[in-house]
Amino acid sequence: MKAIILSGGKGTRLRPLTYTGAKQLVPVANKPILWYGIEAIVATGITDIGIIISPETGEEVKAKTGDGDRFGARITYILQEQPAGLAHAVKIARPFLGDTPFVMYLGDNLIQNELGEFLNHFKEQQMDSLILLRPVANPSAFGVAQIDEQGRVVHLVEKPKVPPSNLALVGIYFFANTIHAAIDRIQPSARGELEITDAIQDLIDHKQHVEARQIEGWWLDTGKKDDLLEANQIILDTCLKSDLCGELDAQSQVFGRVQIGTGSKLINCSVRGPVTIGKDCHLENCFIGPYSSIADQVTLIDVDLEHSVILRGAKVIGIHQRIVDSVIGQRAHLKTAPQRPKALRFMIGDDCQIELA
Ligand code: G1P
Repeated sequence: MKAIILSGGKGTRLRPLTYTGAKQLVPVANKPILWYGIEAIVATGITDIGIIISPETGEEVKAKTGDGDRFGARITYILQEQPAGLAHAVKIARPFLGDTPFVMYLGDNLIQNELGEFLNHFKEQQMDSLILLRPVANPSAFGVAQIDEQGRVVHLVEKPKVPPSNLALVGIYFFANTIHAAIDRIQPSARGELEITDAIQDLIDHKQHVEARQIEGWWLDTGKKDDLLEANQIILDTCLKSDLCGELDAQSQVFGRVQIGTGSKLINCSVRGPVTIGKDCHLENCFIGPYSSIADQVTLIDVDLEHSVILRGAKVIGIHQRIVDSVIGQRAHLKTAPQRPKALRFMIGDDCQIELA
């Protein structure tokens, strides 16, 4: 068995963060979202992993993720020149995949369930494809499945205006080599892409063995800011372990589960977990509330913050209102005067969202 992880795409819904980086490298609890997928795959025993990259962000994904050693895996990078669809990605991965069955994992997806149980079911039943489904409130934003009374998949449709059900296709699929012939038979969709949803529908049309499993646990598709904050909250809630490596002065206090990286200094700060703070940060006179992730080399002075994600190298100084539900990009600076500011002065990147609530 092999696996491919799709890590291309433009990440338009996460702009401006994705102007300078791949959406799959945006951190959740200080770890790139893509790495959770790699770890989930390695946990099933699959170690031969192909990562599909795009010309825009591929080098960054490669540089950060490496050859797989740190995960106990062997990673092969496969360049997809054009964002021509998920099924197109499988097509170009064919030389890597050969005729082995494989897991296909969309690099911005994260699920609570372990993959091993699904993988065993897929193998035991010798399926052509196993897909995972989950009820959602906005099915039109996903591939949607219609299933019959016995739970068999009858019909799949990509981003339908009028969804036939509320069951969305989760971005994790199991395939036998029969998917390649199905991909060869389909045509590009109205948006000009070879859709994996259409290829699975083709398997169904050819009476091949396709099953669906509904997942019970959470599923996160970190495509947008609020999804990212939710993913951050859930991961901090479920996975964070206390680990205080940084330096705290006598005036600083820590409650609950908190991680502080080496080289970080906290002066007169109060931190209420779950919170993760990276390496080499400087925090002074701050309250850091639950569900905050602060990346490496961040400076926070006179800041009150919760339920937020601060990326590497950002500086926030003297903001007296509480900062909530916020994502602050790499090296961004945010500063107010010690007295009530008389003017607001901005240099804000394209597509930023600022709300002075
Ligand atoms: C893709 C698939 C869609 C699936 C979704 C899950 O959509 O085309 O069928 O439901 O991933 O994340 P995209 O996120 O590329 O719009």
